[in-house]
Amino acid sequence: MTSARQLRLGTILHGASGNMSAWRHPAAVADASINFDFVKATAEKAEQGKLDFLFVADGLYINEKSIPHFLNRFEPITVLSALATVTRHLGLVGTLSTSYSEPFTVARQFASLDHLSNGRAGWNVVTSPLEGSAKNFSREKHPDHALRYRIADEYLEVVKGLWDSWEEDAFVRNKETGQFFDRTKLHTLDHHGDFFQVQGPLNIGRTPQGRPIIFQAGASEDGKKLAARHADAIFTHQESLEEAQAFYRDVKGQLEKYGRTPDELHIFQGVSVIVGRDADDVERQYQTTAALVSIDDALNYLGRYFEHHDFSQYELDAPFPDIGDLGQNSFRSTTDEIKRRAREHHQTLRQAALEAATPRPRFHGTPEQVADGLQQWFEGFAADGFIIQGGTPDTFPRFVDEVIPLLQQRGLFRRDYPGATLRESLGLKTPANSFTQQ
Ligand SMILES: Cc1cc2nc3c(=O)[nH]c(=O)nc-3n(C[C@H](O)[C@H](O)[C@H](O)COP(=O)(O)O)c2cc1C
Repeated sequence: MTSARQLRLGTILHGASGNMSAWRHPAAVADASINFDFVKATAEKAEQGKLDFLFVADGLYINEKSIPHFLNRFEPITVLSALATVTRHLGLVGTLSTSYSEPFTVARQFASLDHLSNGRAGWNVVTSPLEGSAKNFSREKHPDHALRYRIADEYLEVVKGLWDSWEEDAFVRNKETGQFFDRTKLHTLDHHGDFFQVQGPLNIGRTPQGRPIIFQAGASEDGKKLAARHADAIFTHQESLEEAQAFYRDVKGQLEKYGRTPDELHIFQGVSVIVGRDADDVERQYQTTAALVSIDDALNYLGRYFEHHDFSQYELDAPFPDIGDLGQNSFRSTTDEIKRRAREHHQTLRQAALEAATPRPRFHGTPEQVADGLQQWFEGFAADGFIIQGGTPDTFPRFVDEVIPLLQQRGLFRRDYPGATLRESLGLKTPANSFTQQ
């Protein structure tokens, strides 16, 4: 069966893979988070599978309870710049916070990455959920959830404006006349807002993609609004097909308010996967991975979402504790979901912690079964694409070798890159320059 709408695929760099103790897995590269050979091999495998992009998540605060991958890992722009030189087609998407950075710097960084990679840069815009981040950035207080999103909205306006500083053909470089650039094609932003005062112009030319691709990760009402207004793609995670479909309808339905059409924003579901020979093989793989996680690990993992709350103070086998509003100012959409599931499924703290720390992969089974699941979500308008996270260290290579060919045979996923840029891979239009468009 062929489908005119094309499935998009990315993968996420997650060190030795998802859980607290994944580095101890017999097949794991224990130092994967800080091992460039490992990162390069992952990117090369992704490119072999014709994936649209590699995604690098990030955070700005750790403590001794953070998951091992967070303790010792590369800064996203730095590692993506290195990857730009050893890959040719793969999109390079990095996370950077609008709450703890300056728009001028970030606009330059992603513009540079876009030039270095010949049009493959993407920015995952996050507002930083962790309270502790303030302590690393000389701030007295972490801005609250609503304020973080107001800052992010203005921040994105500024960055987009800076990316439009130079028209595409502004740099003439005429050695005979001595004209380096065309003055009429240089635009100064002169932004005066509630949070930022930025004159511009940016000291790097318009990028191969026009502007780098903007991802947004954050699923609260404010998060969805920010995505509907500014983003090219959204990275999200819903448990069930029905929840994902509702989220999809909701976000796509908001685009019209901003003069945009539904195909201008791709919705990516982050999904973990295990590929096996049969159900027993999948269960064995899952159990091997889950067994590495102790209950203390699981409590720490859960606690991070709730502002590093100490869950070890509660009775493990009693109902999930009443923790009030905790989590509202950090990972709100995720913590709301954990609380809702605990309430509706009458979970104990132990069950909720283990479910959070060792979730069963959403798509698991034989390559056919995994492909069937992805196809069902894609054709059921629960997602435009997926960000694949391997449930075990060897899942991702197996996904590329065994699942992608099936998706290609079914006409869901392309067999080659359609062009040179991430924007072309994603089938997104090049934005007009805001200074010349009237
Ligand atoms: C799927 C997903 C991935 C995320 N990835 C990151 C990340 O890499 N770094 C980060 O600081 N926050 C990340 N976040 C957090 C969000 O950017 C956001 O700050 C948080 O979820 C609170 O906003 P919300 O209530 O709108 O979801 C992620 C959130 C989701 C749902």
